[in-house]
Amino acid sequence: MSIAEKFVSMDYGPAPEDPKEATAWLDRHERRFALFINGEWRTPRAGQYFDTVDPSTGEKLASVGQGGAADIDAAVRAARAASEKWRALTPHARARYLYALARLVQRHSRLLAVLETMDNGKPVRESRDIDIPLVARHFYYHAGWAQLLAQEFPEYEPCGVVGQIIPWNFPLLMLAWKIAPALATGNTVVLKPAEFTPLTALAFAELCQEAGLPAGVVNIVTGDGTTGEALVKHPDVDKIAFTGSTEVGRAIRGATAASHKRLSLELGGKSPFIIFEDADLDSAVEGLVDGIWFNQGQVCCAGSRLLMQESIAEPLIGRIRDRMTTLRIGPPLDKAIDIGAIVAGVQLDRIQRMVAQGVAEGATCWQPQTSLPARGFYYPPTLLCNVHPTSIVAQEEIFGPVLAAMTFRTPREAVELANNTVYGLASCVWSESINVALHVAAQLKAGVVWVNCANLFDAACGFGGYRESGYGREGGREGLLEYMEPKWFKQAPKLAASESPLLAAKDAARKGAPGEEETAAASTPAIDHTVKLYIGGKQARPDSGYSMPVRAADGRLLGEAPLGNRKDIRNAVEAAHKAEAWSKATAHNRAQVLYYCAENLVQRRGEIIHGLAEVVGEKQATAEVDGSVSRIFSYAAWADKFDGAVHNPPFRNIAIAMNEPIGTVGVICPADTPLLGFFSLVLPLLAVGNTVVAVPSEKYPLITGDLYQLFDTSDMPGGAVNIVTGYASQLLKTLAEHDDVDAIWCYGDEAIAAAAKAMSTGNLKQVWTNEGRAIDWFDAKQGEGRWFLEHATQLKNIWVPYGE
Ligand code: NAI
Repeated sequence: MSIAEKFVSMDYGPAPEDPKEATAWLDRHERRFALFINGEWRTPRAGQYFDTVDPSTGEKLASVGQGGAADIDAAVRAARAASEKWRALTPHARARYLYALARLVQRHSRLLAVLETMDNGKPVRESRDIDIPLVARHFYYHAGWAQLLAQEFPEYEPCGVVGQIIPWNFPLLMLAWKIAPALATGNTVVLKPAEFTPLTALAFAELCQEAGLPAGVVNIVTGDGTTGEALVKHPDVDKIAFTGSTEVGRAIRGATAASHKRLSLELGGKSPFIIFEDADLDSAVEGLVDGIWFNQGQVCCAGSRLLMQESIAEPLIGRIRDRMTTLRIGPPLDKAIDIGAIVAGVQLDRIQRMVAQGVAEGATCWQPQTSLPARGFYYPPTLLCNVHPTSIVAQEEIFGPVLAAMTFRTPREAVELANNTVYGLASCVWSESINVALHVAAQLKAGVVWVNCANLFDAACGFGGYRESGYGREGGREGLLEYMEPKWFKQAPKLAASESPLLAAKDAARKGAPGEEETAAASTPAIDHTVKLYIGGKQARPDSGYSMPVRAADGRLLGEAPLGNRKDIRNAVEAAHKAEAWSKATAHNRAQVLYYCAENLVQRRGEIIHGLAEVVGEKQATAEVDGSVSRIFSYAAWADKFDGAVHNPPFRNIAIAMNEPIGTVGVICPADTPLLGFFSLVLPLLAVGNTVVAVPSEKYPLITGDLYQLFDTSDMPGGAVNIVTGYASQLLKTLAEHDDVDAIWCYGDEAIAAAAKAMSTGNLKQVWTNEGRAIDWFDAKQGEGRWFLEHATQLKNIWVPYGE
């Protein structure tokens, strides 16, 4: 074609990126890679290798070591051995290493971009302009945090040895998201790349050598799911950070439940892309290109559910189709390609299967007329219309270039549809009305909301999900906290198991409770005190009709507390859900109610001390009541001060980081400090707008009577706090399995902490426990403050563009 003809047709010619540097790199390694352990290359113990292929051709690129349990063990040992020296370095020294890594990523950026594209199939335009620059940015940003660490987090220390498992969709970027914050905070790392895309991680290992990183600080063990499993199960790993499928995330939650490993999970999504009738439709369609066709739609936060206001649905669909016909699909090393190859044959099959199922369920499928390359794994951009909200293609992650379109009429309906998913990773809202956009953004259950933009990321803005999209954040200040613990916490002594509520429940179970000789029916001595449950702001009789005896320190029967059961918990959760007045109250109002609680507690000081002293003694009872007054004051003070932040990412955007309440939280209260323990957990949750279903101390559940009088007289809206007495382990199960309970805080011995985590595996609830350690609730440094508030909130980043 002549230049003149091209000028008329405006067709793109091929613009291939030269792979020679990457090919030379592969050849230099004889296309065979060992494992990077303790700063050197080691052949896998079992001598096994697997192939990594170029998805755009299906051809083998290299053989890569299959790490086994012995290799993981060697890597963890190396990381452990390096740990002490690495954490003892000055923050400035660590900052220099991270800075060196950032510089090296930039220096080798073209090699890394081409290698990424060859291994993953993503357009080189994306790996060159998005992935690799973001990798460098992540190391620069965290070099800064390393430098500031001691000043900004004086009370924290690193977790220790961190196991990190990453997926194949952004191989090097996910490595950076994991390694940079871990190193900045003084941890050492064993990272397992995804089996489809190990090459850039291996190139990064070389950069670690080039940067002179001490041996063992970063270890990279390639392999498949079994390698990941060995890392998860290794007893000397202190934390696991995982990004990948919800299914594997769930397996990891289960596998780590009985350990003290900290866990952060970044899982799947089915993110809504909401377009209102007043949106700039051309911009919205361009946003959609980034939202669902970026990286072939293999993006956890892809805007895969299009929600269109009904009035504009028809013209919008027309524009989307027009735009889809101009998307160029083909060899990803061509710089003018929009859609490259799907990572692997199994993923391509999965996409085809799910689309076929969606069509079988009534969706209409539209794809532009386009010819796909003869070799390699390709799937055309796809639009599914007439999608029913319950269809598989509206509910499950497809992880391909497939958009499922639905309509809504009102903003309210848009929010309902958007939130009608088990996930909550990201969302987009398009409207020219800032009021509508921000009003809707506030109601979306998602960790990120992009207003009039899509798929923007920055190291300063925390990223992570709500609900089954996982927990924990990556990036920002909040991301650092995932890799640190308060200094005192690891040293805290273990709670003796005999003091635990779980054991009490086990005892009761052995005796065959309820209906036992210990229940109200059988024990008739003079009862000076009976309490009820407290649900929805009212006293409630237990569904079971049974109660549990409460004894003084000397064994005397003090009274009876109701034996709550599953039905009572369900009622309490329902009441908590309805208590919107509390979550919607202003922070000032919440503070006022809390202060009022303190005032009323002071009024009833003598009476409460008197009752509590029977169980914990006069001295502790006095300290608990006085400590509680102070604790209430603290959280009343925090209520209007625990604010978010505004980030300035390097785009024409601001990102508003908001601390949002998690929702309804189930709380198992500490046994030994019935009053102060209750307030220490329930108040931080209330202060930031959560509603609570609390199971008070089994040792002295009669405290419930004092508490509901307190709340009733302090203008606490009904349902904000609900109290169900009973055996903690039994009630915990119902709380953990209840889908409307958004998080569990469980403070007891090791066994109940493990049970809380194991029971919450099914719906991937956030669980926070004391790991069976004794917390000194009388010491404000341990018992209150930001650590609690950070766990009581989840961060939502709302990105808002500015300028023309
Ligand atoms: P996956 O979750 O199996 O793989 C992610 C990583 O976990 C890989 O490194 C893998 O080797 C490792 N892994 C697998 N099983 C493991 C185990 N039992 N213990 C520890 N580590 C284990 O994801 P897969 O199979 O590659 O993709 C399947 C689907 O998952 C995709 O279609 C997509 O829907 C979703 N996915 C979501 C991602 C996200 O970022 N949200 C990323 C990758 C996949």
